This record gives sequence, C-alpha cells and structure tokens, in this order.
Amino acid sequence: MYILAIDTSADETAAAITSGRKILSYISYTQILQHREWGGIVPSIAKRAHEERIDFVVAEVCRKAARYIKPQGGELLKKIDYIAVTHGPGLAIALEVGIKKAKELAIKYEKKLISVNHMEGHIYSCFVQNSRGKPAGEFQFPYLALLLSGGHSEIVLFEDHLRYKKLGETRDDAAGEAIDKAARLLGFGYPGGPAIEKLAKEAGDKDDYKFPRPMIGTNTLEFSFSGLKTAFYYFFKSLPDEEKTKKVRELASSFQQAVLAVVLAKMVLAVEQTGVKNIVVGGGVSANHRLRSQLRALAKKVNGRIFFPPYPFLTGDNAAMIGVAAYYKAQANVFADLNLLDRIPRLSFA
Ligand code: KG4
Ligand code: ZN
Repeated sequence: MYILAIDTSADETAAAITSGRKILSYISYTQILQHREWGGIVPSIAKRAHEERIDFVVAEVCRKAARYIKPQGGELLKKIDYIAVTHGPGLAIALEVGIKKAKELAIKYEKKLISVNHMEGHIYSCFVQNSRGKPAGEFQFPYLALLLSGGHSEIVLFEDHLRYKKLGETRDDAAGEAIDKAARLLGFGYPGGPAIEKLAKEAGDKDDYKFPRPMIGTNTLEFSFSGLKTAFYYFFKSLPDEEKTKKVRELASSFQQAVLAVVLAKMVLAVEQTGVKNIVVGGGVSANHRLRSQLRALAKKVNGRIFFPPYPFLTGDNAAMIGVAAYYKAQANVFADLNLLDRIPRLSFA
C-alpha cells in the first residue's frame, strides 16, 4: 500500500511516500532561516513559505520514489493508494496549505484521503523504517508515549493502533518552548534545543544553579514549565553582564537539568501508575542525547524497552511519520470525508 503524506503544521513543508512502515522518499523543507530572526515561528511567514514550496516538495518526493514505484504514463501519483495529511494540531493557516493540496490531489487522482493527528505522527515516528525495512521489530502494546515538541508536552497511553489515552500534559508552556526561550535569552537563535544541549555538554551537564523543577513532587502526570522559564529569566537578568557571558554554559546546563529532571520524574510516575514499561519518545526534544540516556536508564531499571525515532530527521517534523500512522488508519478503514475535512488547530487526544 503506497501513501503520499503531507505535513504543513508548523515550519517544515514536509511530504513523504511510504509503503506500510517503510519510507520510499521524503523531504522536510525547513523554514528555520525565515523564522530565526523573530525567535519563533511567524504564522504568516510560515503560510507563504508552505504555499511557495508545496508543489516542489510533492514533485520531489514523487521523483525520488520512482526508484521503487513505476510511474503510470509518467505520473507516479496514479500508483499511490491514499493521500494522507496532518489536520492538527498546529497553526491554522499553515495546516490549511497542506489540506488544500491534499484535497486537490485527491480529486485529481481520485484517491481517498486520510487525516492524521500530528502528535499521533510523532508517536509513529518511532516505528518508521527505511526502504529496506530497518529497524525491524513488531509492535508490543501497550506503550507509554512521551511527546515533547515546541508546542506540546504530554504523556499518552498508546494502547493499540489508533487507540490513545492522554495521561497528562503541560498546563502552560511546552518543554521545547521553554528551552527555546532560555536559549534566546542566552543569545542563541531558534530553535534553541541543539544550542542548549551543546552548551550543557560543554559544562559537563553540571547543575550549579539548581533552578526550580515545577510540579516535580506532585502526584499527577501534568507538567508546567512557565515557572521555570520565569525563574530563569529573572535570575539571568540579575547577573552582572560579565557573569552572563562567562557562565553561559553553566546556565544552559542547569536549565536543561531542571527540564529533564521534571520529565524523568513524570515518566517514573507514569510507569508506576500504569505498570506499562515500554516507552516511545517523539517530538523535537527527543533528539536530546542527555534525555535519551536518562530515559534509557529508566527503561533498563524497570525492565522495559524504549524506542526513539530511529533516524535523525524523524525527531523533527516530517511527513514519513504521518504516512505510517495513515497506513494503520487505512487498514482500519478510517478515511476522511473530502468535503468535511478541515484543520483542527487544537486537535488533542481524548
Ligand atoms: O517536534 P518539533 O520539531 O516541532 C514542533 O512540532 O514543535 O519540535 C521542535 C522543538 C523546539 O523547541 C526545539 O528547540 C526542540 O524541539 N529541540 C530540542 C533539540 N532539538 C530540537 N530540544 C532539546 N534538545 C535538542 N537537541
Ligand atoms: Zn511536531
């Protein structure tokens, strides 16, 4: 079963052609440079960049997939079975671009549409395979899914294909958002995650400043990162300029330690509360090596298994994960109505 998948939920114009769990081709055309000077994603700039690039991105994934699928009369899309698209959560005017393109192609090539929740995609990113089917391995439900991105932080029970139960989420800022704000204060551009991680590593992952760890001791699986963000802001502003520069690594490191300590504590609690020991981790922050090693240690301790997106591009926004989630929807006969399909910017798991 071949699927063309499209995701334009944030700042990547992404398309992919997948076959089951396998990626045949993908492109994630990033807009980071357009948004960088603003310190975050600007919706109107995102919309325009998606509009300018979407045709190119779809044409390119078709061209690249021709290694695996023989085009019919020069048109590879004739051989595709379904068209999948992210319908939320994300920026309304950005989501619209992908949905419009998906509908246009669905009409032109007479294909059924599949709508996918972007966060569901981040869960499936851990199960995406390359064109040769690597990494192999079957699903062993249930899983605890930890999703940490620029817009979301949540823990979800992934009970079976297409069955999710939200166990907890952030009350305010997402982890990635807080990290981006801290990085900006320290003088680093968007996205800030990679810069913070690098600085922290250079400081030996020390925790000199012991910033607050909001909600770490509570008995719920909810997060809160805005208090930490504010505490960091005022502390940083109170430092003499010289120390701001001299201690930039230590500051980044302590900030990262605070975020990761909360995430780890909540995952320990989630395992305790549910008894579920297999973990999947998705979203941009899942690229963080320190987070990965701490979660690996947790999984080992409880005798569980842990999965991260197997290829680096799968940690960020991409359409391969949307294509793979859509494959399971197609198998379950879950299709979207061409006339009713619309963006749901605040789409969430129940
Ligand atoms: O999932 P994603 O690519 O986009 C959204 O859907 O939001 O997540 C982006 C977020 C940004 O906040 C970025 O700073 C963070 O992921 N991020 C990281 C790292 N790489 C990206 N955070 C921590 N460590 C990293 N290495
Ligand atoms: Zn995302």
